[in-house]
Amino acid sequence: MIDKKPVRVIAIASGKGGVGKTNLSVNLGVSLCKAGRKVALLDADMGLANVDILLGLHPKFNISHVLEGEKTLDEVTITGPRGLKVIPASSGIQHMAEIGTLEQAGIIYAFSELENDIDVLLVDTAAGIHGGVVNFAKACQEVLIVVCDEPTSLTDAYALIKLLNRDHSINRFHVIANMVDSVHQGKALYQKLCRVTDQYLDVALHFTGAIPFDKGLRQCVQKQQAVVDSNPSSPAAIAISNIAKKIDNWPLQRGAGGHLEFFVERLINSDYTGESIR
Ligand SMILES: Nc1ncnc2c1ncn2[C@@H]1O[C@H](COP(=O)(O)OP(=O)(O)OP(=O)(O)O)[C@@H](O)[C@H]1O
Ligand SMILES: [Mg+2]
Repeated sequence: MIDKKPVRVIAIASGKGGVGKTNLSVNLGVSLCKAGRKVALLDADMGLANVDILLGLHPKFNISHVLEGEKTLDEVTITGPRGLKVIPASSGIQHMAEIGTLEQAGIIYAFSELENDIDVLLVDTAAGIHGGVVNFAKACQEVLIVVCDEPTSLTDAYALIKLLNRDHSINRFHVIANMVDSVHQGKALYQKLCRVTDQYLDVALHFTGAIPFDKGLRQCVQKQQAVVDSNPSSPAAIAISNIAKKIDNWPLQRGAGGHLEFFVERLINSDYTGESIR
């Protein structure tokens, strides 16, 4: 079809675990929904599926049931706050490269159907820089890298950027500093990362924003609610809403790469071998 509208497909990655990817994904998703966008969030963390837990959702099925042909994407998708569509994780999707041609066609079709219903697809990836993370990141149009003020966060973010750049020719990244004391500290972290990438890699890093450390966010996690929904005036919620506005203004990819079926095709055509890269 020629007249399909483009969908933004954004990976949220970090290298290091526990820096706030899932919280950012969920709250970014809800913020974009609040702004009137139709958003789906694919939980691509196959080890520790967390999106549903953060939102207090109880999925019966997950993406593996779609891969097996037992359910449609619509049937496994559950609706979170503000209409956010959540596609629950399974270990199946990491091995998309191994599924048969018929199943591949089915899943491409399933995602291209979803395309009519959404403006944005967010992909919350796992920690680490293993093949699963790389495959998801390189299948997306934009990659958000989340960092926090810990040396290992910067080194792991660098390792992921380097891998995606050198082996997969990705040269544009968006950096978000999380759990910082101030925007100044967030920018300083971004600049530290830029100093290393500028020296060794041919990449452009864009500063997308800083999110303060916020006890209010933690309280919402306890209550299994999205902070932007249940405590919108908290500092973290304000910061994430501003980031969502920025993202909403990014230029949209038109042409081939702007469609969901290409996202799935890139996933399927990945060279994932199941081995750890590091
Ligand atoms: N801005 C923030 N202020 C306070 N706490 C935060 C903030 N962002 C995240 N956290 C807390 O940090 C912890 C890790 O967050 P989260 O699960 O989102 O990280 P992650 O990067 O997805 O982890 P993993 O790599 O294991 O998937 C959680 O306890 C969360 O509540
Ligand atoms: Mg997570």
